[in-house]
Amino acid sequence: MSDAQAAKMKVAILGFGTVGSSVARILFDSQPAGVELTHIFNRNVARKRVDWVPSSVQWTENVEDVLSSHADIVLELAGGLDPAGEWVRRALEAGKSVVTANKKLIAEHGIALDKLARSKACHLFYGAAVAGGVPVIPGLQQGLAGDRITRIEGILNGTCNFILSKMEDGAEFAPVLKEAQALGYAEADPTEDVAGFDARAKLVILSRIALRADVTVGDVPAKSITEIAAIDFAYAREMGCTIRQISRAELRNDEVLATVGPMLVPQASPLAWSHGTENMVLVGGAYGGDVVFSGHGAGGNPTAVAVISDLLAIAHGSCAVGLPSRKIGVSGDFLLRHYIRFVVKDRPGIIAQIAGALAEQEINIHAILQKPGHTKENLPFVVIVEPCPPGPLKKALEKIAKLDCLLEPTLDLQILEPENGA
Ligand SMILES: NC(=O)c1ccc[n+]([C@@H]2O[C@H](COP(=O)([O-])OP(=O)(O)OC[C@H]3O[C@@H](n4cnc5c(N)ncnc54)[C@H](OP(=O)(O)O)[C@@H]3O)[C@@H](O)[C@H]2O)c1
Repeated sequence: MSDAQAAKMKVAILGFGTVGSSVARILFDSQPAGVELTHIFNRNVARKRVDWVPSSVQWTENVEDVLSSHADIVLELAGGLDPAGEWVRRALEAGKSVVTANKKLIAEHGIALDKLARSKACHLFYGAAVAGGVPVIPGLQQGLAGDRITRIEGILNGTCNFILSKMEDGAEFAPVLKEAQALGYAEADPTEDVAGFDARAKLVILSRIALRADVTVGDVPAKSITEIAAIDFAYAREMGCTIRQISRAELRNDEVLATVGPMLVPQASPLAWSHGTENMVLVGGAYGGDVVFSGHGAGGNPTAVAVISDLLAIAHGSCAVGLPSRKIGVSGDFLLRHYIRFVVKDRPGIIAQIAGALAEQEINIHAILQKPGHTKENLPFVVIVEPCPPGPLKKALEKIAKLDCLLEPTLDLQILEPENGA
């Protein structure tokens, strides 16, 4: 080994929050060979100082101190598109390698930043950006690079999984969301998580790496989990299923089918077994078959492990396998059965009207389920329809929405079928 290789790589942390402070703590606890923390940057840095960081480390609230320093590797752990994106760009321009956990930035600008890194002969690693401490990205880039991946199905948002797995045990949405917020799993404004936007950014990153498909984030349909009620879990159980927020992408001819949203998942699927804040990703390979990754998708320490693993990979000379991806269109037209839950004020003829609207769109009813114990004044029931594309079903549901007997907006969930990989 040459002297240059034996020298320690200088490392700077941008953002000393949950992940940044865990990274620093683990670096000092485990003292991995070949790296040395030299800078910690954060705004109002006096609030952040801790006594376990040695005096050799420079604390700063001026990012220029890092960008103009001799740091070899910058760990971007501040988050968001701005100004973090500009810091990453400038670090790469200056020939510094970057490790980031920032899924938003990588989903939106990952391809351009990756190109910039290559043009400067440095590295951009982002293993922590999807599924936190679960090594899905390195697993795809290295362990599965020899396969042709055709399908990804995952539970990519721990907050939604916490909420839905609590609801599976009988809780209602609103109190569980409050509990998730009190535990620090959900933000005061939970939209990014519950509306599926966080999971969608992660699915776009995985599609790029696994399917080699560059899809635009906004093109992937995302559906919120907020309309799910306890009654839906009761019906799901009757059907041998549960409900999870599922992110899916699949290569089909010259497009990618992709969606994020709550789905009915058969109890026999590994995706139904994940509870709490756990993340799980199932990838289907043309040659190697299915592989499942699971574990802690978030939290300071699990995410820091992924960041430090990337840091060590760079420091010890590994490089991610450069998989070319191509721009490709997105469609949400999965051909699946649907679970449709109505809440009505009962009167004769409702089923006939619903069946008529579905038949007009050539959609067949597979089953009708009605649990006892509800009054005719407020009656939930479920219609399962045979596999159909979402477009015609949407038209039928728009017609049904005009019926005066409906007391609530209709809930429409796709059902993940075993033959679709569940
Ligand atoms: N937490 C997780 O479980 C997890 C899991 C996977 C990926 N990630 C990703 O990891 C990154 C960091 O997340 P986190 O949970 O550690 O966030 P966090 O606790 O909010 O930490 C971010 C830190 O960066 C600082 N910061 C933010 N914007 C800044 C700015 N403009 N100038 C200077 N300092 C700034 C913040 O300072 P203030 O204290 O002043 O706000 C804070 O100390 C994000 O990209 C996130 O998506 C997090």
